[in-house]
Amino acid sequence: MDWFAWDFDRPAYFQIYADKAVDAASEGPALAALLSLPPGSRVLDLPCGWGRLHPHLRARGLEVAGGDLSRLNLRRHAAEHPCPLTRLDFRALPFRDACADGVFCAYTSWGYFATEAENQVQLSEFARVLRPAGTLLLDLAGRDFLRASVAEVEGYWLDFPEEGYQERTRWSPDGRRIHTERRCQGEAFRHDIWIPTDAEVRAGLTGAGFTAVEAFGGLDGRPWEAAAERWIYRALRR
Ligand SMILES: C[S@@+](CC[C@H](N)C(=O)[O-])C[C@H]1O[C@@H](n2cnc3c(N)ncnc32)[C@H](O)[C@@H]1O
Repeated sequence: MDWFAWDFDRPAYFQIYADKAVDAASEGPALAALLSLPPGSRVLDLPCGWGRLHPHLRARGLEVAGGDLSRLNLRRHAAEHPCPLTRLDFRALPFRDACADGVFCAYTSWGYFATEAENQVQLSEFARVLRPAGTLLLDLAGRDFLRASVAEVEGYWLDFPEEGYQERTRWSPDGRRIHTERRCQGEAFRHDIWIPTDAEVRAGLTGAGFTAVEAFGGLDGRPWEAAAERWIYRALRR
């Protein structure tokens, strides 16, 4: 089974990422503002996870539908934030062409696939479901920041006793992907994510049919810089 089909679909995921519920209070309004669409716009939240950012998109008057691969996340989303929800895989979105004004892709949810071709298909699918001049917001981890922060602990098991898990992070030998192993609730997890350079993100967006690419270096919309913790891209479908 692909790691992303397993890791996000176990109850331990909610334990490991419990702090993201708190973070949603600051991330949600900021990312929804950066999407910069008028009230009434139709937005696909892909992936929606358990819907932690959903209320903040709704608060801007957006019509939001969510999609995700994880049945567990979708069940929680439906219980806590009911809205139209679809189980899907990024590589073949079950939506018609040009049906959305916006695609909202938050919290490093690109680069999960093993091949560059598959990761490119994800962006092409985002472009396909957007109307011409529709907006994609792609919120990624800043590669340089991640490299610097992992450097100090790379290869060591770290214990998070209050959160109840252990974690060890390593870069792939070619430095392109980050491997994060976790042990929680007696189970083993292993994220394996391609962390692209800025040039690779921009090439991916352009190749998928996006234009007018803007990049931000933080939730407050500050200008992009290589050392930023978050690289947030906004682009328009051609
Ligand atoms: C880091 S979470 C982000 C969720 C949400 N955007 C947020 O900010 O809370 C990544 C999500 O991607 C979903 N996912 C992973 N692989 C997927 C795939 N191939 N197709 C669709 N969703 C996928 C996972 O189930 C998980 O909910």
